[in-house]
Amino acid sequence: MSTQIQIFDTTLRDGEQSPGFSMNQDEKLRLALQLERMQADVIEAGFPIASEGDFNTVREISKNITQSTVAALCRTTKKDIERAAASLEPAAKPRIHTFIATSDIHMKYKLKKNRKEVMESAIKAVELSKQYCDEVEFSAEDASRSDPEFLFEIFEAVIDAGANVINVPDTVGYAMPWEFGQLIKSIRREVPNIDQATLSVHCHNDLGVGVANSLMALKNGAQQIECTINGIGERAGNASLEEIVMAIATREEEMSTNIVTEQLVPSSKLLSEITGHKVQPNKAVVGDNAFAHEAGIHQHGVLNNPMTYEIMTPKSVGLKSNKIVLGKHSGRFALDKKLQKMGYALTKDKLNQVYMKFTDLADEKKKVSEKDLLNLISQTLPQRKISGDDIRTL
Ligand code: KIV
Ligand code: ZN
Repeated sequence: MSTQIQIFDTTLRDGEQSPGFSMNQDEKLRLALQLERMQADVIEAGFPIASEGDFNTVREISKNITQSTVAALCRTTKKDIERAAASLEPAAKPRIHTFIATSDIHMKYKLKKNRKEVMESAIKAVELSKQYCDEVEFSAEDASRSDPEFLFEIFEAVIDAGANVINVPDTVGYAMPWEFGQLIKSIRREVPNIDQATLSVHCHNDLGVGVANSLMALKNGAQQIECTINGIGERAGNASLEEIVMAIATREEEMSTNIVTEQLVPSSKLLSEITGHKVQPNKAVVGDNAFAHEAGIHQHGVLNNPMTYEIMTPKSVGLKSNKIVLGKHSGRFALDKKLQKMGYALTKDKLNQVYMKFTDLADEKKKVSEKDLLNLISQTLPQRKISGDDIRTL
């Protein structure tokens, strides 16, 4: 039996915190509805204490989302927690997500609190949150740079106080996959009541290993992954949801998620449309080139059997089909197939003539379009356009 991994989407909170990615209430609601269509288990809708707008948005999302859990972020103060609780009031499945930093550097320079004070704050915050909400998540900010012994103690204490989810953020994207896997394993081993909570991770991408760290965490006992559409988030972003989900779907027989993978590309496109930021063409899973082939050898393979160069089907992520792009690396085989699709089945000779002209043009242009091909055909076979002599039986 496969383990069901919970997908916690934080596009609307951590994702939205990155410069240039802010969204208004209507846009956030539209995206939240799409995330629900995709069957995200948890949608983190915002940070209600941050502004009146954020508060109202979390409330609006709470009113409209019925299947996914809606989470609201708050620090450990009473005011923050009460604001989060109020914003979640209309939610069918609310979750308060409270956090405090546990690394020495954050405690000393940001919080100006010692370990005892941080411990007390965390316990009190979870106890208070529980008065408003059955589901409470506790995050130890900068967990990966915290003293593991302190981390074990605080996790044990907040689980005793009622936390249902324990989150381990690699807040600054500093951890390496092998270390992060070991950290998760040690939490499983050293926190005596860990089985009473869901163990979650939240990885940032400063060194480009957010997804790798999340997968290593899963291998070592994490049960929930926090991630974002298109990997947006603070600085270099968060672990990308679509990459994690498809890595599990493609490679992990003993794990699964609830995500409707056919909604991955629609979610990515909606986010790009709303924020005005397209993903780079080579972005895994959702980039324009993720299922595009230009090189002749690849095109030949894919046209005969897509699995020669595709490890997932385009349909499985929500695309109609792959793309055969005609450019300077393309071969006769792909050109012939394309021309056949356009209704021209040329003899070998004529195809060679068109191909020579095609390579000249492809040297000049990045992509050769259908219109370009029509021009090439009429230049190469000018007088009669296409006659019986030029055409083999289709
Ligand atoms: O990166 C982080 O530590 C966070 C927490 C608030 C979960 O976003
Ligand atoms: Zn974060």
